[in-house]
Amino acid sequence: MEVGFVISQSDIQGYSFLVSKDAKLDNNVFVITDSGIFGRVVNIANMNNLLMDQDVLIYYDEILKHVAPERENYSIAHVKIYGYVKDNRINRVNSPPKPGDTVRIVDWNELKRLFGLEESDQSISIGYVLPYEQEFYFDPYRLVEKHFGVLAMSGAGKSNMISILLQEFTQRGIDLPVVVFDIHNEYYNFSQIYPDRFVSIKSGDIKLSGEYINTDVVSSLIEDLSETQLYILDSAISRLDSPSIDNLLSILRSKDDEKRSVNALIRKILHIRNMDIFGEIGLEEKIGMLKYGKSLIIDFSDSTNDRILSTKAYVLLKELFERRKRGEIPPVLVIVEEAHLLASNETNTESRLSQLILTRIAREGRKFGLCLGIISQRPYYLNQTIMAQLNVQIFLRIVNPYDLEYVKSVSEQLTEDDISSIPNLLPGEAIISGLLKYPLFVRFKLADSRLRSNYTDLRSMVDRYWEVNGRRRYLKDIDF
Ligand SMILES: Nc1ncnc2c1ncn2[C@@H]1O[C@H](COP(=O)(O)OP(=O)(O)O)[C@@H](O)[C@H]1O
Ligand SMILES: [Mg+2]
Repeated sequence: MEVGFVISQSDIQGYSFLVSKDAKLDNNVFVITDSGIFGRVVNIANMNNLLMDQDVLIYYDEILKHVAPERENYSIAHVKIYGYVKDNRINRVNSPPKPGDTVRIVDWNELKRLFGLEESDQSISIGYVLPYEQEFYFDPYRLVEKHFGVLAMSGAGKSNMISILLQEFTQRGIDLPVVVFDIHNEYYNFSQIYPDRFVSIKSGDIKLSGEYINTDVVSSLIEDLSETQLYILDSAISRLDSPSIDNLLSILRSKDDEKRSVNALIRKILHIRNMDIFGEIGLEEKIGMLKYGKSLIIDFSDSTNDRILSTKAYVLLKELFERRKRGEIPPVLVIVEEAHLLASNETNTESRLSQLILTRIAREGRKFGLCLGIISQRPYYLNQTIMAQLNVQIFLRIVNPYDLEYVKSVSEQLTEDDISSIPNLLPGEAIISGLLKYPLFVRFKLADSRLRSNYTDLRSMVDRYWEVNGRRRYLKDIDF
């Protein structure tokens, strides 16, 4: 369908076209010129020369009496050029379109062919391509194999996107087990609805075996240790023949020298004992379930301490990495919610250990079939090495200027116009960059309501509180 013709200056990056009067043109629709230049509409501006002149505007009432100013309305669309279509393939552009070339909309069937969006038994669909409103079929392995990130502010639809993805994996029989780091206990229902596929585990039930009583882990669980304390700890750990916190404490208690440092250290180790994270029930049996194709939902919502959260995440990830390297478990997708908590942009934070292993997996994991899905509402605080390794980036709504600035610096496929549209996305709408040759705007489907995270707004929280705790009571009615 013809929608206009090329005007003004054009180059191989982009061009503008005058939109035909009756054309229905949506932003982000793909267009092609009669010379085969293929691109996407990234901006549409409505103009009116009569009303653009400030000096004329003061006579607006007069103008209205004599002419219908809307007759002067016209629109100019700006197109980002992607390539030159020949024989159903998109090639590099060598010469820009010429002014006067006609422009037409690329219809859905044509677009499907060019992008390879056909449905097949290898593909899944978790949403619709905008503005076409057509099912978005893609190869899930392409999304997962080089790590992906879902970055957006709170309430933008990140968890729903993960839920619909897991739902599709399950329904389409994608045999890639998933481990979800479920920080807010949003995915528990998967283990109820699909008990054959998903197992839910409370992080409190994960105990670390004695082999993890090492200086790295112990020192990351407590506040900064002095050099002397570190030295004492190191030598005490090296003398442990049967590793347990109690044995470590007895070794320390039996020391005669440097009493002050030793005592301070003992107090800190007692603190670790209270955390109750080392014990008999190791990770073995939990991680072993992956061998039977089960996916694990690990509920970290009971973890109130960031150090424990980071340490447990570290140990889990390290085990997955090592076992995957040795081929003991199938390839796995690890989804990390609130990833900025586990891998921040700063060094020496409470999340030092999980940050270490996550960056390692981001760099090396794909070689071993250990893939990451990184979810975060604060891309700005997310570790840069990890961010740089996310080949597919899914941006839902983001408004924070720091986060947007950061997004701009890491997303190679997106134009300024694309970035500036991110704050205006509606819940569930996203730009997917890096999955296909060109970025695509999509709207995710809502996951099955039984699976959806129970994101609650304040009003429903208030209602629910009073529902559970009885009707509102007034102070004067209460007998103190
Ligand atoms: N694809 C979607 N279509 C329509 N509404 C959506 C979609 N995704 C999310 N929402 C709405 O936004 C709310 C928050 O979604 P959620 O996935 O929990 O956001 P986040 O994880 O980013 O905080 C949901 O309860 C739902 O009402
Ligand atoms: Mg969420």
